[in-house]
Amino acid sequence: KPIHRHDYRPPAYRVTDVELTFELDPAATQVKASLQLERHPQSGDDAPLELDGEQLTLKHIAIDGQSLANDEYALSDTGLTVYNPPRQFRLDTVVEIAPSENTALEGLYLSNGMYCTQCEAEGFRRITYYPDRPDVMATFATTVIGDRASLPVLLSNGNPLERGELPGGRHFVTWRDPFPKPSYLFALVAGDLQKVEDRFVTMSGREVTLQLWVEEENLGKTEHAMASLKRAMQWDEETYGREYDLDLFMIVAVNDFNMGAMENKGLNIFNSAAVLTHPHTATDAAFQRVEGIVAHEYFHNWSGNRVTCRDWFQLSLKEGFTVFRDQCFSADVNSAPVKRIEDVAFFRTAQFAEDAGPTAHPVRPDHYIEIGNFYTLTIYEKGAEVVRMLSNLVGWEAFRRGSDLYFERFDGQAVTIEDFVDCMAEASGQDLSQFMLWYSQAGTPEIDAYGEYDYANAEYHLTLRQRTPATPGQPEKQPLHIPVRLGLVGTKTGRDLALTLEGESLGSDGVIHLREAEQTFVFTDVPEAPVPSLLRGFSAPVQLRFPYGREDLAFLLANDSDGFNRWDAGQRLAMLALDDLIAAHRNGVEKVMDTRVVEAFRALLERGSDDKAVLAEMLTLPSEAYIAEQQPLVDVEAIHAARDFVKQSLAATLREDFLRVYEENVSEAPYAPEPDQIARRSLKNVALSYLMAIEDEQGIDIARRQFEADHNMTDVRHALTLLTHSSRDDLAAPALRAFGEKWAHDTLVMDQWFAIQVTRPQPDALDRVKHLMAHPAFSLKNPNKVRALIGTFANQNRINFHRADGEGYRLLADVVIELNRLNPEIAARLVTPLTRWQRFDESRQELMKGELERIRAEKLSPNVYEVIEKALA
Ligand code: ARG
Ligand code: ZN
Repeated sequence: KPIHRHDYRPPAYRVTDVELTFELDPAATQVKASLQLERHPQSGDDAPLELDGEQLTLKHIAIDGQSLANDEYALSDTGLTVYNPPRQFRLDTVVEIAPSENTALEGLYLSNGMYCTQCEAEGFRRITYYPDRPDVMATFATTVIGDRASLPVLLSNGNPLERGELPGGRHFVTWRDPFPKPSYLFALVAGDLQKVEDRFVTMSGREVTLQLWVEEENLGKTEHAMASLKRAMQWDEETYGREYDLDLFMIVAVNDFNMGAMENKGLNIFNSAAVLTHPHTATDAAFQRVEGIVAHEYFHNWSGNRVTCRDWFQLSLKEGFTVFRDQCFSADVNSAPVKRIEDVAFFRTAQFAEDAGPTAHPVRPDHYIEIGNFYTLTIYEKGAEVVRMLSNLVGWEAFRRGSDLYFERFDGQAVTIEDFVDCMAEASGQDLSQFMLWYSQAGTPEIDAYGEYDYANAEYHLTLRQRTPATPGQPEKQPLHIPVRLGLVGTKTGRDLALTLEGESLGSDGVIHLREAEQTFVFTDVPEAPVPSLLRGFSAPVQLRFPYGREDLAFLLANDSDGFNRWDAGQRLAMLALDDLIAAHRNGVEKVMDTRVVEAFRALLERGSDDKAVLAEMLTLPSEAYIAEQQPLVDVEAIHAARDFVKQSLAATLREDFLRVYEENVSEAPYAPEPDQIARRSLKNVALSYLMAIEDEQGIDIARRQFEADHNMTDVRHALTLLTHSSRDDLAAPALRAFGEKWAHDTLVMDQWFAIQVTRPQPDALDRVKHLMAHPAFSLKNPNKVRALIGTFANQNRINFHRADGEGYRLLADVVIELNRLNPEIAARLVTPLTRWQRFDESRQELMKGELERIRAEKLSPNVYEVIEKALA
């Protein structure tokens, strides 16, 4: 059942041109396919033609116009084999499919009465018989036929060629995409949609029409996505020299979608949550997420579409590179340090957890059962960190030359990760062979660092020891090539000292290269005792430990020239205090707040900052999930209690400062999703969170007023969350009711309404989840609803999901069992929290494993099967 990377063989036949005709019907859509095929020169005369196909009803099959006899081909559940085809030929097939029964949302399906497709990775085989693999690239011409009244808009990839009327109230449009592409980039949309149109003139002066297609009621929510698209197009020209290549670029918003969005050639399809925004319905975070995803999908036009993957093991070739590109874009158009802080905070919580769990896998996996399970934080985010390291190792200019070389050399081809790294090695002249281990070794490397200042010789000795823990299937690990960016901050001056290593000057902010299991770096001419600031900007995706004292951390928090590490010093300081409090809670000892943390926070609040967004991040405590990640064994209650205690202690002591910061950052200016406003809002809202942590009258009053002022969704949602999460039901209930009634018509806002309630720390949260599953706005068939209600509860309400009685686990398993039948891809993702059972106490371990076993007893989809088997191995 598993597929292995080393078993890759080129296809025996390649497709050069495809003509498709769709006659749309909910229960019986007819798909005619006409493929031009030719045998690979290295394949034998007797090589059969193997086509993938699932859930298709074959109606007709012919080669060069001759119908095939029954013994000339064979059908199975997964495809079709044609025996002894000619060297070059045309294959015609007709199949019937049922979009209305498609609840997996792969292939052609219906969402809100509109037809749409999702073909990556292997959805095209649910549309027609085809060699559904990314190394088969063909040009597509697609005719879509549908009812004119209910489906006025018929879209596919490329440019529209022809349109017209047909008998029976039907009409058609024929599209042609001149760029050869793999089947996973095919797309079709048909529905009652309206468009917003704009244009972009490329760097060579070509005019591109930009269209955003939405349901009529969403016409007012497209402005930001369109503006983001234009910014992204310009950024890719300026930064990577990449120009758009068709005359038309379309984005369509659909409500039912498994992921964020999809980069289909010329016709990106988006989860409506990843494209629609309005100040009254979307938060700042949502605006920024939309901007990032619009850019991500657009950037794929080069990193993914023009140059694609040879096979799905190379998925990170396009995803890691494209995430890196979208991260840099977002950093450039917003606050760069905050973007990095947010990305790293998320990475160290979620990707580290994946790397430490039973589904850990390398950035380039060696085998899989279901590729749909590999759209992971490791492939995407760790893949992006690896590309970021490459860009830092070779420097931006060489990286850009390497990128140019890659796009030029491999344009129109399906290639591998080696091809990409080879371009970087060639452009930079560097040896990147040890670096390649980042692609093959799973697990998070741990660095233990130790430093000593030698007064007599004015030297600083820094020893770094690396080790990557064993992961499933990889007991032994080799040392990696790890770039460690660092500074030595003088304790007298508070400034970065000049770095001299083996006689070579590294400036004051340098990179050292750790390649051995253990290495000592001796810095000379160090005039004063320093505190090292290590792994600046998170220069490598590793866990770095250094025996910092609390004074050292307070010093770095105040003095480090690297904004990211200043923030990280604050996080480390808070973690030391939290560790003590977790221990105290466990031992039943009275909790005492660390005054150094209080004083550090006081200093931050008093000093203020030019970058309010960074300040807001610095005032934010590590999340319960991050704290859990740092513990050898997760004690759910102790973590929750310790974090609450820190929050309340800070709030009680620094109440006046938080009040002042709140008032200073209130603004009546009309909402705009721009960095300065976003920064003020986040700072103000962090302050409000502290004020509400002690629930005094003034805090409550401010939260209420902010909710009622109804100025923008960021402020309203924050206030509603604080009211809902407070201990007072007289605050929660009326606000939730008012909000729920006001927004009953808006499905994306209702998702937020669900999420806010199910993250309540109060013990009624689980009952609320059950109750809300029966709410008319909820549906198990809609992935956004499942994520908002069930996913949010299981991942973000740790105290209630991990209830000692196991009811949280049971609820999740029940939903997974049902979704396994409806939507296997979503089911396999949703089960993740249960797979992390090793991290908890014995009683929870038993309960979690019990639920995994209950799921295993079902007839499982390959998606859920693969995850459950790993989790129970
Ligand atoms: N390539 C898409 C993106 O990165 C994700 C598509 C994933 N699809 C899936 N069924 N797993 O934006
Ligand atoms: Zn992507």
